[in-house]
Amino acid sequence: MSSTTSRFTLDDRLPAGYFTETLHADVRAGLGTAPRTLPPKWFYDARGSDLFEQITRLPEYYPTRAEQEILERRAPEIAQLTRAATLIELGSGSSRKTRLLLDALTAGGSLRRYAPLDVSGSALEEAGRAICRDYPELDVRATVADFEGGIPLSDEPGPRLLAFLGSTVGNFDREQRAAFYRTLARALSSDDVLLLGADLVKDTEVLLRAYDDAAGTTAEFNRNVLHVLNRELGANFVPEAFQHVALWNAEHERVEMHLRARTAQTVKIPDLDVSLDLAPGEDLRTELSCKFRRESLTAELKEGGFTVRHWWTDDAARFALLLAVPN
Ligand code: SAH
Ligand code: TRP
Repeated sequence: MSSTTSRFTLDDRLPAGYFTETLHADVRAGLGTAPRTLPPKWFYDARGSDLFEQITRLPEYYPTRAEQEILERRAPEIAQLTRAATLIELGSGSSRKTRLLLDALTAGGSLRRYAPLDVSGSALEEAGRAICRDYPELDVRATVADFEGGIPLSDEPGPRLLAFLGSTVGNFDREQRAAFYRTLARALSSDDVLLLGADLVKDTEVLLRAYDDAAGTTAEFNRNVLHVLNRELGANFVPEAFQHVALWNAEHERVEMHLRARTAQTVKIPDLDVSLDLAPGEDLRTELSCKFRRESLTAELKEGGFTVRHWWTDDAARFALLLAVPN
């Protein structure tokens, strides 16, 4: 399926039945583990993508502004170092920060194509059309896909710069990251470059506030996954019956988002033929956000097939943006 205006294409590369079969399998697997987990990519339906965009504007949510600060300062250098003809972006969402890269690569004269990839078709549609309008020389080829299932790259003009911003890499655990780096290394060729945004370990209070804001937007975002399950699986979760909890896991240096049952409750998920008994205070873990250190991130990338060439942070050293090349 693809829809086209002159310079904009949107290709849906999700396998037929993705939203039913994969969701069914994910939810079934996650509810059988201790603690029970729900898979994060299901946060991002149209409402979830909107809520995330609101999160990026919250006073407590520093990562977006910190990464923006680095991009503002370094985009011209990145354009010069890479001379990229194609900018590929995984998990592009609203593509708001990406404009700094597009501006610099366009000014540098190398860029011909922007290829955003996201599991959210609504986010791609909106962001892609706006970028098409604002960058009249650019081809925009958007792809709806799950980047965990491989990265569909094809005939993009090289050299290619692959951006993965927002510390979305931190939403994978260690093993998932190792698998992801291997997938990336397979997809990229020797003259391609990886641009990775990673949130850094810092004061626990600052970290937790970023995932538990005063206005309750992150809580609403967290509960949105229950709305998705109600809609897609005919489940009868009462989202308000769950408390949003963000906690710091010191052993793994990550923030964890949980939904905690306020009272004992039974949830029916007819499409899975499941009846779920939750004890009062029982948690469903919905998301991880791993925080990084320079040395260990550099080492795991090396092991995954990438050599870090540049490492930049914002002035307060809250967030890192790194440029890496295939080994
Ligand atoms: N890059 C943006 C958005 C980050 S939010 C920023 O820095 O602000 C994470 C984005 O990744 C969302 O748009 C979500 O839809 C997308 N995403 C999450 N899991 C995904 C997956 N498995 N495959 C493809 N996209 C995914
Ligand atoms: N990549 C973002 C992060 O880890 C995703 C995110 C931000 C998120 N706030 C969230 C995910 C709240 C779940 C719940 O910072």
